[in-house]
Amino acid sequence: FPCDAIRNFSIIAHIDHGKSTLADRLLELTGTISKKASGSNQQVLDKLKVERERGITVKAQTASMVYAIKSQKYLLNLIDTPGHVDFSWEVSRSLAACQGALLLVDATQGVQAQSISVYHIAQERGLKIIPVINKIDMPASQPARVILQLESMFGVDPVDVLQISAKTGQGVDAVLRAVIERIPPPSASAEKPLKALLFDSHYDRYRGVISLVSITRWGDSFLFMLTGDKIASCHTRKKYEVQEVGVMYPEELPTASLRPGQVGYIACNMKESSEAHVGDTLYRVGAQVDPMPGFRPAKPMVYAGIFPVDTNDFIKLEESVKRLTLTDRSVSVQRESSSALGQGCRLGFLGTLHMDVFRQRLEDEYDANIIVTAPTVPYKVVYKDRTVIVSNPTEFPDLSDSSSGVKQVQEPVVKATIIVPEDHLGEMMKLCFAHRAEDLDHRYLDAGATKSARIILTCTIPLSEIVTDFFDKLKSKSSGYASFDYEDAGYRRSDLSKMVFLLNGKQVDALALIVHRSGQQEVGRTWVKKLHKVIPRQLFEVPIQAAIGKQIIARETLKAMRADVTAGLYGGHYERKMKHLENQKESKRRMKRIGSVDLPQEAFFDILSTK
Ligand code: GTP
Repeated sequence: FPCDAIRNFSIIAHIDHGKSTLADRLLELTGTISKKASGSNQQVLDKLKVERERGITVKAQTASMVYAIKSQKYLLNLIDTPGHVDFSWEVSRSLAACQGALLLVDATQGVQAQSISVYHIAQERGLKIIPVINKIDMPASQPARVILQLESMFGVDPVDVLQISAKTGQGVDAVLRAVIERIPPPSASAEKPLKALLFDSHYDRYRGVISLVSITRWGDSFLFMLTGDKIASCHTRKKYEVQEVGVMYPEELPTASLRPGQVGYIACNMKESSEAHVGDTLYRVGAQVDPMPGFRPAKPMVYAGIFPVDTNDFIKLEESVKRLTLTDRSVSVQRESSSALGQGCRLGFLGTLHMDVFRQRLEDEYDANIIVTAPTVPYKVVYKDRTVIVSNPTEFPDLSDSSSGVKQVQEPVVKATIIVPEDHLGEMMKLCFAHRAEDLDHRYLDAGATKSARIILTCTIPLSEIVTDFFDKLKSKSSGYASFDYEDAGYRRSDLSKMVFLLNGKQVDALALIVHRSGQQEVGRTWVKKLHKVIPRQLFEVPIQAAIGKQIIARETLKAMRADVTAGLYGGHYERKMKHLENQKESKRRMKRIGSVDLPQEAFFDILSTK
């Protein structure tokens, strides 16, 4: 890969503002992919099935391209980043390997909530930011207005703003020139020995772990990473021999070496997924190196139990989860067992979309058949002498029991930022209050706009409120105009209790919930109704109850059914009768016995998958 200079950059933007489309155009313009490959705008970098189906980027991908300008050849390494709030950890990780970022803003929508958060992440990392307004081909585009927003929000100089259409390709060559002219080359490190920052990895069935690395620059030729090099990990101190190095072009393309400042992949016979630590520093065996500062570990915000539908599949499920967490290090994993659902894993995610995507990837890529329990956030239970974090409702103490020793409970809260047209402000404030928001505040985003000015609304709101259906409501109540982002804002004391569900007087552990006093009645009634709908009738009457401590909050009664499923079939239909008995036997096999009540595994599936 002969080249004279290197630029490492990323595209950051609010969801759907056109990152993947721009990436396609850049790859085309540099001849990395042919027009045909991206002809139907299929977004070459969105490789995962879930990404193509949902049209969102989940996993940051890397691609290299070569661009010549004034007889200089530049190696440009593009690191694509996801736009959704749940994946901001991926964003900050990708940015660690870059020196600059294109901040892409949709000309019809203007600055949105994530535009602000990704801008701040990039700025904190000291990246050179190039503001780019996209979709100027659209009749509704208002580039002049967006320029004013960029100026007032980020102090951008209007002359620095590029205007493009990633769809038609208009102005995209100016983007490439700006990358070369404005973004600095990877900076030289003061330390001499070779270091490689491991910023991503995936598992290849034949070659083991493939790691994406960024090589620190010093300037000496012996800093090249070559096939055959002996390297070691600062984190595990394990040693490896480099089998292959190369660049993502945009598929893996082996090269003779990786040069200082470059981003590329290495295969070094790493057998176990767990050996590749994102944020780890790799170095040449024998050298004395200090590890580079790693990444802030991802902090799970939402937890859920994942269980195999067939309890015999647990080992397979656990292995699949392990493999998948290698490509997504922000997921935390623990074993969990439930008397109703058997062995499973308790996973921590960055948000509910993240959880949904992980579940879909398990199903798509690992053919897993699973049940996911209702999501919960991590609560703090404060005792006299210690504080315990509880992320599984079954472990939450019964606060009505005076011997529990609990002084108080606290729940995580977030600082939410909502950007919305002025006419929807009233609705939005109502929605926030209904979800227990506090410290509401608002100001104008584009001062001086004469019609439909936009407002930035901020508040603190319990994370558990956001985890449910807040986002959907926000979208529907603002006719799709509101954008939303949030950041961690610590913990707040709260009036919470554990709600359990009883079938015929027996508690179902997998269905416990932690609820705020204000929502107890409604939650209790909704869930009891849901259970009533999906639980099959038994030979006897079954009371279904929601309880907090000893107090019953809601109740439904499931009527008894007739014993013999064949009773209604008359005489001679022997085959039909046998078939019914067979069916009955088959479904018995998959029954879970909760006390005296038989519950098919599918019932759990229905309960937990209906909102
Ligand atoms: P995430 O990965 O989900 O964050 O989205 P993204 O930012 O990668 O956006 P993507 O490239 O998927 O584009 C979103 C939609 O906008 C797609 O339907 C694109 O075809 C469309 N789009 C992107 N750029 C342009 C443009 O310049 N003009 C027009 N008219 N449409 C565009």
